Amino acid sequence: MTTSYTVDVIAGDGIGTEVVPAAIACVDRAAELHGFRMDWRHRAWGSDHYRRHGSMMPHDGLEQLRDGDAIFLGAVGTPDIKDDVTLWGLLIPIRRAFHQYVNLRPVKTVPGRSGQELDLLIVRENVEGEYSEIGGRLGRGTPDEIAVQESVFTRRGIERVTRFAVARAAERGGTLISATKSNGIIHTMPFWDEVVAEVAAEGGVRVDSVLIDALAARFVLAPDSIDVVVASNLFGDILSDLAAAVAGSIGIAPSANLNPEREWPSLFEPVHGSAPDIAGRGVANPTAAIWSAAMMLDHLGETAAGAAVHDACFGTLADGIATGDLGGTATTAEFTEAVLDRLGRPESPHPTPAAATSPRHRP
Ligand code: NAI
Ligand code: MG
Repeated sequence: MTTSYTVDVIAGDGIGTEVVPAAIACVDRAAELHGFRMDWRHRAWGSDHYRRHGSMMPHDGLEQLRDGDAIFLGAVGTPDIKDDVTLWGLLIPIRRAFHQYVNLRPVKTVPGRSGQELDLLIVRENVEGEYSEIGGRLGRGTPDEIAVQESVFTRRGIERVTRFAVARAAERGGTLISATKSNGIIHTMPFWDEVVAEVAAEGGVRVDSVLIDALAARFVLAPDSIDVVVASNLFGDILSDLAAAVAGSIGIAPSANLNPEREWPSLFEPVHGSAPDIAGRGVANPTAAIWSAAMMLDHLGETAAGAAVHDACFGTLADGIATGDLGGTATTAEFTEAVLDRLGRPESPHPTPAAATSPRHRP
């Protein structure tokens, strides 16, 4: 029996529905070449579901995802529905229900482009911090109106995300940078600094605490001086868009929402949103989605297939084939075809793999 993986696909809105098929085509090709099978469970969730049913996903949506091996998401968001509805109705509940507390965002320069070379990892805390539901508004519409939004930082939450970041820094032989703002935010950020320092010391990795404003400038001025960054939910969110822009385009930035213990499915998605300004024209850059899919294969244990997909995508970029956001002329379909060509075709007829292996990688 061939190893197979069950992956829930939420293409979502806008260019999500254009870049997800591109990534799936690459993964299916890699699966053929490397002798495993993908069982895609397509979920028609997102803004259309909201328009028809009043919710972004079915009421038992999380339950439906629970037994899958991974989740692959395009993007959600549309101009006619408020962004907090689309985000809190789908992505944030998935991240939290499945304890995807690490948001891993690698950033690399587009091959063949001039400018600063960069190759770094942002490890963003993904389930607590500034993005909390605690707070409220009083006196709506009056001159005395106030809004209060509480940040929630827990020792357990900071420790586990830092442990993950420390392990990555140790693997890469680099230093860990911790994004902070302990001069202005006087309760949560000093706490963050202390716990990060403790965990880094245990892991034998040097940590530099850098104020987020100075760090933002450093991302622009000296990105090659940055290797692994650990950051809170908000800081990590902003830094990763910034880093992607410095690297060339938001259209290349991938991400993994990881449950490192593998008790629950992890979710893989491009960093970019639904890009309503270019949606429907077939010109979106599928690199971020394809690279995210490569990270998914790696997570599923198909490391060779993951590397093949990543290398085919970056090889295509190095050949000078690129979509409009990178100054090229290729459409989404043309770029994807070029990646598939680089991946190659299986020699037919396809040999039947001999050994039966378990489809489950979770304990
Ligand atoms: P966005 O990432 O959708 O677009 C920002 C800019 O980058 C646009 O000019 C867009 O055309 C360009 N761009 C993005 N991805 C591209 C790609 N693959 N190829 C070429 N160009 C690309 O961010 P924006 O405009 O702030 O948000 C649009 C919608 O997406 C909103 O509703 C927002 O809430 C949602 N969104 C959803 C996310 C998610 O599902 N995880 C993440 C970010 C935004
Ligand atoms: Mg963002």
